[in-house]
Amino acid sequence: MNTKKKDITILAIESSCDETAAAVVRNGREVLSNIISSQIDLHTVYGGVVPEIASRKHIERIDQVIAEALSQAGVGLGEMDAVAVTYGPGLVGALLVGVSEAKAISFASGIPLIGVHHIEGHISANYIENKELEPPFICLVVSGGHSHLVRVTDYGAYEILGRTRDDAAGEAFDKVARAIGLGYPGGPKIDRAAREGNPDAISFPRAKVADAAYDFSFSGLKSAVLNYLNACEMKGESFSQADVAASFQKAVVDVLVEHSMRALEEFGGGKFAIAGGVASNTALRSALERACAERGVSFYRPSPVLCTDNAAMIGAAAYYEYRRGVRHGYDLNAAPNLKLGER
Ligand code: KG4
Ligand code: ZN
Repeated sequence: MNTKKKDITILAIESSCDETAAAVVRNGREVLSNIISSQIDLHTVYGGVVPEIASRKHIERIDQVIAEALSQAGVGLGEMDAVAVTYGPGLVGALLVGVSEAKAISFASGIPLIGVHHIEGHISANYIENKELEPPFICLVVSGGHSHLVRVTDYGAYEILGRTRDDAAGEAFDKVARAIGLGYPGGPKIDRAAREGNPDAISFPRAKVADAAYDFSFSGLKSAVLNYLNACEMKGESFSQADVAASFQKAVVDVLVEHSMRALEEFGGGKFAIAGGVASNTALRSALERACAERGVSFYRPSPVLCTDNAAMIGAAAYYEYRRGVRHGYDLNAAPNLKLGER
């Protein structure tokens, strides 16, 4: 008797922000294609993502991106076991494009529809390149819209240990980059500029949230950077872009590492993963790698292209939802404020 499990192949779609993306993923961990059409160039002139432009561009590009994902994977729609789509959180107009597209595909081809939480997708990006990684583990999720310290207790089961009280980590990177004249998108630009700077040049605060050990707060740090820049201007002094970038980045990284290590000490488990756009930051990756190595903890991080928004991560998350029997109806709607663990 053949006991081999049937392969599950999923077409995944992601359009929650400024990336139009589609991917074909087999059994949650094998990426057959991963197409990302970035709109960054279109938004750069405005210094940030313009929701209206994002929605319009998703509509223009989504069919082509899906066609490319299928053709690069060498499979037809008829071979898909499900179509998965990010339905929240994110920009409502942007989400609606992907959700409507996925519903249309599901209706026309008769394959099941699975709505995926964007952050669950980011976390699941870790499964793609780490075939052996299984829950439970602790995951630091740091993106443009979210900063969460999460206990992944099982596939699709999350316990949030801490979250940001104000700005997300990526948001702080973007705002500081703008303030020091690096422009948008801020994260990668600060990452690059910081390599030339001294992380100990300026002493910026490491914020703690009094009543919640695992919560983050980055708005005070952002204000401290702005105050520093103002003080330089008042004194008629110039500032070093590289030193501000490096010192700011160090302050963010220190807090993220400290909270993460404390969570590992309290909850143990020996496995730690990172996810989200900021997880592609080189200083953060090396600091966490070192901290985990010192404690004998296995450290997991997706390749940078799987940290920032993509659809392969949505396909990975969708596989485990599929196996748990999750199927959505045609009443699936965009949920811009969807909470992790909510359905
Ligand atoms: O996960 P993501 O692509 O989109 C959201 O779900 O938000 O994250 C985008 C965020 C942006 O704020 C961007 O500046 C930041 O991730 N980012 C970085 C780096 N690359 C992207 N932040 C720090 N260092 C980087 N190398
Ligand atoms: Zn994201």
